[in-house]
Amino acid sequence: MQKRVVLITGGSSGIGRALAFTFGRAGARIAFTGRTESSLQQVSNELTAAGIENLPLVADVAIRADNERVVQAVIARFGQLDILINNAGITMRSLFADADPEVLRRVMDINFFGTVYATHYALPYIRQAKGSVIGISSIAGFRGLPVRSGYSASKFAMNGFLEALRTEMLYEGVHVLTACPGFTASNIRFTALGKNGQVTGDTVRDETSMMSAEEVADRILTATRQRKRTLILTTQGRLTVFLNKWLPGLMDKLVYNTLAKEKDSPLKR
Ligand SMILES: NC(=O)c1ccc[n+]([C@@H]2O[C@H](COP(=O)([O-])OP(=O)(O)OC[C@H]3O[C@@H](n4cnc5c(N)ncnc54)[C@H](OP(=O)(O)O)[C@@H]3O)[C@@H](O)[C@H]2O)c1
Repeated sequence: MQKRVVLITGGSSGIGRALAFTFGRAGARIAFTGRTESSLQQVSNELTAAGIENLPLVADVAIRADNERVVQAVIARFGQLDILINNAGITMRSLFADADPEVLRRVMDINFFGTVYATHYALPYIRQAKGSVIGISSIAGFRGLPVRSGYSASKFAMNGFLEALRTEMLYEGVHVLTACPGFTASNIRFTALGKNGQVTGDTVRDETSMMSAEEVADRILTATRQRKRTLILTTQGRLTVFLNKWLPGLMDKLVYNTLAKEKDSPLKR
């Protein structure tokens, strides 16, 4: 990682913030984005205090032009871009039957089109560097989760996009990693959009019993060094992917029953 330049979308919180420290401590220079200037500045100060060279950039991944500006700023500052981590993401929390379809569009715009736009502008430089495109997807990209239909759809879309890109890049020396964390303690459930697009502001799960963002970041750094194709995290996550492939009917019931236990779940019968 020495002297590598890493661009992380959504680096001001959770997994993105942990990735900034993990890749930075390994020797990389870090550019990172987010929509909230104060959070970006705070993380930038902490990275600087840890001796990590960094460039915070206010940008919304869902806006195509912001992604072009971000990549240009990275090249202007560092002269190269080796690794793009498509991490910025949001979730939703509502039954599909109750949700305004605009909520699904908003989730798709950030999680999927954010990945498409950032990759579009970064790819020429990553090709030159024979570097990596990484997508932070989810177990929900392998197994649809009720009450999160738009989130699951956006992660399935990411998985298909990244798999196709990896195959196109097979003889180009570009590494493409689909990283799928399981439940990870972060801010994402607090910023989940409700059925009308309002921010829900609370979590429905016990955040203390989840994998930490730091552990997720460590595992992603190792998978990047090893140029792995896929990283599926947590025992529950690996079991979910495996069982869903072979016993999808049983998994419908298991997933329903598990998520019905969440606080205020609309699945309760
Ligand atoms: N936590 C989990 O359980 C879990 C599990 C599997 C996968 N993931 C994935 O991991 C990724 C990171 O999530 P997290 O859990 O770390 O969530 P988080 O703590 O809420 O962090 C999300 C980050 O993305 C930024 N962001 C959100 N929308 C953005 C936009 N439109 N443009 C630019 N930045 C944006 C946020 O900053 P601003 O809001 O200030 O822009 C923040 O820095 C997501 O893709 C998520 O789907 C999370």
